[in-house]
Amino acid sequence: MVPGAAHPALLALLALLGAVLPGPGGAKTSVQPLNAIILQGGSVKVNCSTSCDQPTKLGIETDLTKKEVGHGKNWKSFELSDVQKDSIPMCYSFCDGSQLAAQMNITVYSFPELVELDPLPSWQPVGKHLNLSCVVSSGGPRDDLTVVLLQGEEELARKPAGKEEPAKVTFPVLARRDNHGANFSCRTELDLRSQGLGLFQNSSAPRMLQTFVLPTADPHLDAPRVLEVGTRWLVNCTLDGLFPASEAEVYLALGDHRPNLTVTYSDDSVLAQAWVMGNVEDEGTHNLKCEVNLGDQSRRSLEDVTVYSFPAPSLTLSEPEVSEGTTVNVECKAQAGAVVTLDGAPAGPSGPRAQLQLNVSAEYNGHSFFCSARLDVAGQVLHKNQTRELRVLYGPRLNERDCLGNWTWQEGSQQTLRCEPWGNPLPELKCNRKKDRASLPIGDLRPVKREMEGTYQCRATSPRGEVTREVVINVIYHQDNLAIIIPVATVFILATVSTAAYIYNYQRKIQKYELQKAQKAQEEAAMKLNTPATPP
Ligand SMILES: *[C@@H]1O[C@H](CO)[C@@H](O)[C@H](O)[C@H]1NC(C)=O
Ligand SMILES: *[C@@H]1O[C@H](CO)[C@@H](O)[C@H](O)[C@H]1NC(C)=O
Ligand SMILES: *[C@@H]1O[C@H](CO)[C@@H](O)[C@H](O)[C@H]1NC(C)=O
Ligand SMILES: *[C@@H]1O[C@H](CO)[C@@H](O)[C@H](O)[C@H]1NC(C)=O
Ligand SMILES: *[C@@H]1O[C@H](CO)[C@@H](O)[C@H](O)[C@H]1NC(C)=O
Repeated sequence: MVPGAAHPALLALLALLGAVLPGPGGAKTSVQPLNAIILQGGSVKVNCSTSCDQPTKLGIETDLTKKEVGHGKNWKSFELSDVQKDSIPMCYSFCDGSQLAAQMNITVYSFPELVELDPLPSWQPVGKHLNLSCVVSSGGPRDDLTVVLLQGEEELARKPAGKEEPAKVTFPVLARRDNHGANFSCRTELDLRSQGLGLFQNSSAPRMLQTFVLPTADPHLDAPRVLEVGTRWLVNCTLDGLFPASEAEVYLALGDHRPNLTVTYSDDSVLAQAWVMGNVEDEGTHNLKCEVNLGDQSRRSLEDVTVYSFPAPSLTLSEPEVSEGTTVNVECKAQAGAVVTLDGAPAGPSGPRAQLQLNVSAEYNGHSFFCSARLDVAGQVLHKNQTRELRVLYGPRLNERDCLGNWTWQEGSQQTLRCEPWGNPLPELKCNRKKDRASLPIGDLRPVKREMEGTYQCRATSPRGEVTREVVINVIYHQDNLAIIIPVATVFILATVSTAAYIYNYQRKIQKYELQKAQKAQEEAAMKLNTPATPP
C-alpha cells in the first residue's frame, strides 16, 4: 500500500502545522477519543469537531475504512472499521482558508494465534539442563504480552514475549527426578488492565517430560565361562542405581538365542534372570550379551561363553570278574584333546588313552580302577572321572589270622569266638567236634561252658574248593570245692558211722556170747549138781 505508507507522513506534517499554526480567532479542531484500544479487526467511532463557526470543510484523514455515521453544524462522527493495526487518524477542518488538524491514536490488540511448547526430548538425563521453548505467533501489543512456563499448574518462570514474530521464549530447566512424568506447558498473558481491559490468557497443549538416571557402570553379568552340553545355567544380569528402574528394559542373548527372561524390578535396580542351555548344535564360543536400556541410552556387558561337550572317559576291564592269577587288561579312553590318567598305569606319553595289564591276586577283589580325564576348555581345566570295580574269584581261605586254632578260656567268662573264612564267592563254614560231631558255637559265648571244650574240625567250602582247619578249645575250670568236699565228707562220715556201728554191734555180740557162755556153764554146773555125780 504505497499511498497508505505515504499518508502517515503527510498526516504528521498536517498535525504539526495544525499544532504550530492555530486558526484565526483561536479556532481549533478536536478529536474524540484521543486514544482508543480495540481488538484487531474491530471498529471504532471517532468524533471530529471544530470550534470554527463557519467551517468550509470537516473530515478525517485515515487509510482505514471509514464511514460517516452522523454530523452537525461543526462536527462529524465516523466509524472506522476493520482495524488491523495501530493507526493515527487525524481530524481536519478548514476555517477561513486555513487548515486545522487534530490526531488520535488507535492501538490494536490481538490474542496469539498460536501458543506452543516446542517438543521435548523424549528422555532427559537427570542433572542436565534442557531448554524449554515457547513459541508464540502474533498477539500483541507485545509490550503487554508475557510468556509463562508451567509445570502442571505451577508457574516456573515468566519472560516478556519480545518483538520477534513469531516470538520464541526459552527457559532453561535443570532436569530432576521429580520432573519425571510432569506435564509442561506455555501460557501467554496479555495484560490490558491498565487500559481498562482485562488479562487475557492463552495456553499451549501440555507436553510430558521423562527424566532418567542410568549409571555409567555396565550391568553385572554373572554367567559361566564354560557350559557343558546338556547342562543349563541360571544367568543373572543386574544393574543398580537406575531411575525409574521400572522403565528399564533388559535384553539378553547367547549368540542368536534369546532365552526367556524373568525380570525383577526393585526401587533402583533391575535383575534379569534366564537359563542358558548348552545345546549340542551350539558347541563353540559365543557372545553372551546383557543390555539394559533406559531412556535413550543403554549399558551392556559382554562375555564369552564356550559350550563344550566332554563325556566321562570310558574305562573298561577285559573281564569284570576273573579268577585269581588271570591277566586283566584295563583301558581308559577319552575324547580327542583330553588327557587321561589311569591309576596304576605305567608312565607313558600322555594322551586320550591309557592302558594297564596285571596278573590279579585275591587282593584285587573289589579294587576300583580310577581313570581321570582332563580337558582344557577356554583356559579352564575340567576333569571327568570314571571308576570300575574288579571282582576276583578266589578262595576259600581260612588261616590262623581268620580263625585262631587254639582258644583257651576261663569257664564262665564271656568271649567272642571269631572264625571267618574268606573268598569270592564267600565260603560256607562248618565246624564240628571231632569226637561227637557237636558244632562249634561261633560268635558271642556268654558264658563259656566247659562242655565246649574239645577239638573241632572247621571246613570252609565254596564253589572254588574247600579248606579245613582245626580249632582247639580249652576251658579252664577250678575243681569246685563244695562239689568235692561234700562227697568226700559224706563218704568219710558214712565210713565213720558204719565203722562205729559195726564195732558196737560186734562188741554187743561178744558180750552176749560171753553171757550165754557163762549161763551155759552155770546151767551145766547146775545140772551137774542135779544129777548124781558120776564117780570119777
Ligand atoms: C500429563 O498429561 C497426560 C495427558 O495429557 C496425563 O495422562 C498425565 O496424567 C499428566 N501427568 C501429570 C503428572 O499430571
Ligand atoms: C486466547 O484467549 C482468548 C481469551 O482469553 C480467547 O478468546 C481466544 O480464542 C484464545 N485464542 C486461542 C488461539 O485459543
Ligand atoms: C600270576 O601270578 C601267579 C602267582 O603270583 C602265577 O602263579 C601265575 O602263573 C601268574 N599268571 C600269569 C598269567 O602270569
Ligand atoms: C576327578 O579327579 C581329579 C583328580 O584326578 C579331581 O581333582 C577331581 O575333583 C575329580 N572330579 C570329580 C568330579 O570327582
Ligand atoms: C594251646 O594253648 C595252650 C595255652 O595257651 C598251650 O598250653 C597248648 O600247648 C596250645 N596247644 C596247641 C595245640 O597249640
